[in-house]
Amino acid sequence: TRALVLNGPNLGRLGSREPDVYGAASFDDLVTSVEKWCADLGLQGEVRQTDDESELVGWLHEAVDTRTHVVLNPAAFTHYSYAVRDAAAQVTSAGLVLVEVHLTNPYAREAFRHTSVVGAVATGTVAGFGFDSYRLALLAVAARV
Ligand code: DQA
Repeated sequence: TRALVLNGPNLGRLGSREPDVYGAASFDDLVTSVEKWCADLGLQGEVRQTDDESELVGWLHEAVDTRTHVVLNPAAFTHYSYAVRDAAAQVTSAGLVLVEVHLTNPYAREAFRHTSVVGAVATGTVAGFGFDSYRLALLAVAARV
């Protein structure tokens, strides 16, 4: 079973980005953890990050075309990108699992983070558990397929 683990804008800056909010571990550390969890769960995982909305939309199209499940942290796109939402909708509409993940709990933060335009088209959402949000999301993918 294949899983694309897609990360949106500013997540490549983990480790240096607002460490009080996002912690001291780097994006490379996240990749290492996710790759290990995928191997443990028997998933063929691939982790990517982009700051570019168009690239993220293209990766979601690729997931549909290659029948690959998705763990998606849309980062700030979560809150306003109908393009990412419409691309995510194609993944779940194709019968693939798409889990929305967040490191932090957006509901405990600023009001603009309380809305996810992606949530309604995701299979489900895991938020607030740091890197473990990804581990739980991968567990959900493995349990569903
Ligand atoms: C985030 C939460 C978003 O509100 C924020 O824009 C991010 C990261 C998270 O993982 O907690 O960039 O998706």
